[in-house]
Amino acid sequence: MNYNKRSIRDIDVAGKRVLCRCDFNVPTKGGKITSDKRIVAALPTIEYLIEHGAKVILCSHMGKPKGEWKPELSLKIVADRLSELLGKEVIMASDVAGEDSKAKAAALKDGDVMLLENTRYIKGETKNDPALSKALADLADIFVNDAFGTAHRAHSSTAGVADYLPAVCGFLVEKEVSIMGKALADPARPFVAILGGAKVSDKLNVINNLLEKVDTLIIGGGMAYTFLAAQGYAVGKSLVDNEKLDYCKEMMAKAEAKGVKLLLPVDTAIAPSFPDPIDAQIPVEYVDCTAMPADQMGLDIGPKACAQFAEAAKTAKTVVWNGPMGVFENPTLAKGTIAVAQALADSDAVTIVGGGDSAAACEQLGFADKITHISTGGGASLEFLEGLELPGIACLQDK
Ligand code: 3PG
Repeated sequence: MNYNKRSIRDIDVAGKRVLCRCDFNVPTKGGKITSDKRIVAALPTIEYLIEHGAKVILCSHMGKPKGEWKPELSLKIVADRLSELLGKEVIMASDVAGEDSKAKAAALKDGDVMLLENTRYIKGETKNDPALSKALADLADIFVNDAFGTAHRAHSSTAGVADYLPAVCGFLVEKEVSIMGKALADPARPFVAILGGAKVSDKLNVINNLLEKVDTLIIGGGMAYTFLAAQGYAVGKSLVDNEKLDYCKEMMAKAEAKGVKLLLPVDTAIAPSFPDPIDAQIPVEYVDCTAMPADQMGLDIGPKACAQFAEAAKTAKTVVWNGPMGVFENPTLAKGTIAVAQALADSDAVTIVGGGDSAAACEQLGFADKITHISTGGGASLEFLEGLELPGIACLQDK
């Protein structure tokens, strides 16, 4: 896929109506935003458009309302927060591309900002309905995609609208694509990838694609137990993806054939059962992965594995990390994930955290400013690491 896309810097936006797709799918609790990271990440593009005299029409989805007008998923709270951050009014439309949006878009002056309602209030959005794409396009002269987090979705507001308008990327998409694209296409070596998460089946193509590119592939988290089982070790009651044992063997053979070092944890945290509730205090012991008792399950990497993985990150020049090393929602079982986040923070390498839980871990631990790039995409960054074409980027004009 060609990641060299035209950006807002390459076009004249002065006096133009610019429809800018952002990923304002922010976490909320009790009607309040609990992290405004995605809104803050969109500011450079929005501020540039304002400063360059565009009439800015923002849009985004929030949650999965599936075509229903669920008031708790209104973007009004985003408009309020954005208005605070920009220090200016953000005009809120009461519909997506209906009469209110049209009237408000037509009345915009240069430098004004408005926000449409949740694009997923309209059923056609997730079906990439041309009628909705066209209605969105009719509001504007130019389409800007700055929603990296939804770039893997071929929806009306992320891709379909580009059939009707000149389409370029914003600064967030440009940054995500250039940093992660460079890491995959032309990394400073040694290049180490650290993958975690519960299931092998969620990361099949990521593992396969990264084995083409990295010098060392580290597998931690729940999926390590399937790899260990595929190597013939007894893993007790640990989560094992039985259908993927052959796949793991194939990947281990591929690593060997390509000269890629594949590291599995040498030790593990064990407990008799999965914590319930997830953050319940449970007794945990540490054993070597070659000696896991039959009545115990592995729930995190152990201290030797933490040191083993940290050493690999220390000697690397590029590190990509995606997925927690254990049940990190539980303080006792978060130690492996914290150790990896710490190793990345301490490393002089280009460090990239591929969104989702690992990004949240870095932020919660206060390591975010010591990481070169934390992706705002969860699913999108995974698909990027898989080497898949992202529709929200493919639809943009090439340079
Ligand atoms: C995300 O939170 O990963 C993006 O906003 C995409 O959301 P979705 O998985 O509901 O499409």
